[in-house]
Formats: sequence, C-alpha cells, structure tokens
Amino acid sequence: MTLWGGAFSEPTDDDLRRLNDSLPFDQRMAAEDIRGSIAWANGLARAGVITRGEAETLVGGLNEIAREFTAGTFVFAEGDEDIHTAVERRLTELVGPVGGKLHTGRSRNDQVATDFRLWARGAAVDLLVAVRHLMRVLAERAGEHADTVMPGFTHLQPAQPITAGHWLMSVFWMLERDTQRLTDTISRIDVLPLGSGALAGVPFPIDRAALASELGFASISPNSLDAVSDRDFVAELLFGCALLGAHLSRLAEDVILFSNPAFGYVTLADRYSTGSSLMPQKRNADPMELTRGKAGRIIGDLTGLLTTLKGLPTGYNKDLQEDKEPLFDAIDTLGQLLPVVTGVVRTLTFHPDRMRAGLVAEMLATDLAEYLVRKGMPFREAHHTAGRAVRMARERGVPLDQLSLDDLRGLSGLIADDVAAVFDYDASVRSRSAPGGTAPESVRAQVAAGLALLAD
Ligand code: ARG
Repeated sequence: MTLWGGAFSEPTDDDLRRLNDSLPFDQRMAAEDIRGSIAWANGLARAGVITRGEAETLVGGLNEIAREFTAGTFVFAEGDEDIHTAVERRLTELVGPVGGKLHTGRSRNDQVATDFRLWARGAAVDLLVAVRHLMRVLAERAGEHADTVMPGFTHLQPAQPITAGHWLMSVFWMLERDTQRLTDTISRIDVLPLGSGALAGVPFPIDRAALASELGFASISPNSLDAVSDRDFVAELLFGCALLGAHLSRLAEDVILFSNPAFGYVTLADRYSTGSSLMPQKRNADPMELTRGKAGRIIGDLTGLLTTLKGLPTGYNKDLQEDKEPLFDAIDTLGQLLPVVTGVVRTLTFHPDRMRAGLVAEMLATDLAEYLVRKGMPFREAHHTAGRAVRMARERGVPLDQLSLDDLRGLSGLIADDVAAVFDYDASVRSRSAPGGTAPESVRAQVAAGLALLAD
C-alpha cells in the first residue's frame, strides 16, 4: 500500500513506479531521515499534538530502524517509494498504528528538504577536511621548494623564472578560496525547512527554533513556500564542487605537462602512475588525466541542476527529486579524487636540474628592461631597448646573456658592466620579494601564512 492511495482507484503503473521511485539513490539519506523524524516526533510532543509516551514509542522505533540500517539488516519492501516512505512503513510495522502519527503536520516536501540539508552539511564538512589535507601537502612541498628555480609560463610560453614553491602555492590559494566558499555555503545550508508542511506551514504550535537546535541548524526558514522548493544550497555546493574540480584540473594539467619528458620537471611516483599494455616505456599520469576529465563531469552535475531549477513554478515540484544524484555524484567524485591528488603531490619527485635546464636567458629580458629603469629610463623605452637586445641575440644566434657589452652599449649608453648581474636566474626570483611575489622569502611567508590558516 502506498502512503497516499486513498483517493485512487487503481495501483500505479509499474513503469511509472520505477520512474517515480527515488529509493535507489535516496536511501543513502537514511540516517538523516531518521534524525529528522526523531526531532519531529519530539516536536509534536512538545506541541501537545501527541503524548510524551507516543513520542517515546516513535523515537524507540526510529532508533531501532537506525540500528537496522547500521547492521545492514533493514529490508526494503515492494512499494517503498523513497527513503521517507520506507522508514515510515517500517516504523508502523515495529510500533503499530501509533507510527501513523509521525507524519502529522509534516510533508515529504519539508522532510526531504531537511534530510538533504543535513546530508549536504555533512558532505560539505567532510569535503573541507579533504581539501585542507591537500592544502597542507601543497604548503609542505612548497616549503621544500621555496628556492627551486623553474621556468614560469604565460600563454604556456617561457615568461620569467619563478620558484617551484610559488607554483605550488598558487594552487594552495585557489583551494583556500574554495574552502572559504564551502564554509560560506554551509552557512546557507544551515537553515531548517522542517515545519513548513507541504507548502503552507503547520497548523500546530510547533516550536521550530527548538527543532532547529535539536538538529543543529543555525536558523529556521522564514517562508514555507520558499523552504520546500529552495535548492539554492545544492546549486551553491555544486558550484563550489565544480570550481574546486576546475582548480584540481588545472593542477592536473600542469603535472601532466611537467611530467612529460620534454619538460621532465617532475616524476609521479610509481604507485601513482600507470603503464601501457603495448608500449613498455610508457609512464602515464592517469590520475591527473582522470582529475582533469572528472572536473568536466562535476561541471555537468552543476549545469544539470541549474537547468532543472530554472523553469519551476512556485512550490515543490517532482523535478526537485532530480537534485540528489548530481550532488551525490559530485561529492563522490571529489571524494575519490582528493586523496589521489593529495597522494600524487605528496610523492611527486621534483627535478630541480631539469627545471634549471628549461630556463633560457630571454626569460630575463624583463629584468634587463628593469635594469634600464633603475638607470632612469622610462619603462616603455626600456621595454623597447630590451626587445632590441632580444632581436639582436636571435639574429646572432646567441643567448641573450652572451651579447657583448659593446653590443649592449650600442643599444643604450645607460648600460654599464654591472649589466652582467642581470643575467642571474636566482637573483631575478630573489628580487621579486614584494608580498605575493615569487622570491624564496615571499614563498616562505606564503607557506607560513597558509599553514597558520590550516591550524585555525
Ligand atoms: N522523493 C521525493 C524527493 O526526492 C520526496 C518528496 C516527495 N514529495 C511529494 N510531494 N511527492 O523530492
């Protein structure tokens, strides 16, 4: 028997039932559903709608159901449409007709919104822990490589020397913003919809603030019609997941590139590499490629949900049942990726010699312009003069630092023999010591600031 068949004269079509049922995926909210139901039973008793004794019977039955789920002995029945109907059906089996009092004043609309918020909050908190773990490893590795000089790129073309620690910390700060976003999202997940009924609210004197505190919510929803159909929290959390996925994907792309023998800057540990079934020499960065690939899937989860939401009329609509799988998928995907990405970074071998070999003197052309600026030349003119030096070196087929002093003096009388000091990669990165720059001391300051954030 369904929970709502009273006005119907024939059973639901089997194909429709399979389409309609959400139990296959929403059963993972069993613990949240039971928690919400226990709070509701207590709320009904506080409001005098049921007796204390009835509430105790209901709570006892619900705790028994929780034990069945934990032990793996809970048996779903034919006709359990979703986790809410399954729990209520089992409750009535266990405690008898009083089980039928639990749903007083409650709708599955405010119930599912409550369950999903409880679930999403837990998932977001777990995600934060996993992201912070990766951040810690990034900061530690950045500290090890604060002095390691490597080529820096813009447009993926050789740009200026940077330190490897600076590169790693650039990812750290992306993830730090992700954690800020997740924390901010949690504050909006943390609103209790229970007590909204189907759409219009509850006709009994339910103390919703007490319900909120029992379930650990920071506040109660201010409008029942909004509360039953508000999935902003899912969209926000999915956006947080999607952007986090995009950040991981960018790191992955760098590692894939830098582990290519043409670069040779890093090597993935054997346990985080894969081989080819045909080519014995192959060493593939599959974990990073999957990270890049799965970021697309998480972005799909977000766009799917937004598309579901955009045309909905006021109040709850069954379309909203489509909110769960995308979030479950995004959270599961990140739950798989984050420990692997963390392991890759933790075990990555850096090759400072190969990084240094990738440096070319032209990457100091900006430093040459800055040298001229320090001698009093306006930057635009200095840029032009350094550009002429680059052209001259290319025409002669020599590296920029191999032009003679006479050649350079021919470009500007401001150039003196102290120009030799310009062509020093270590000095170049050391000079960028303003806060946020690539200098070793700046990277060490970033690492210290980052680790302090993680210690909070
Ligand atoms: N399984 C449903 C969902 O996930 C529960 C709410 C059903 N509400 C309703 N009025 N049919 O959204």
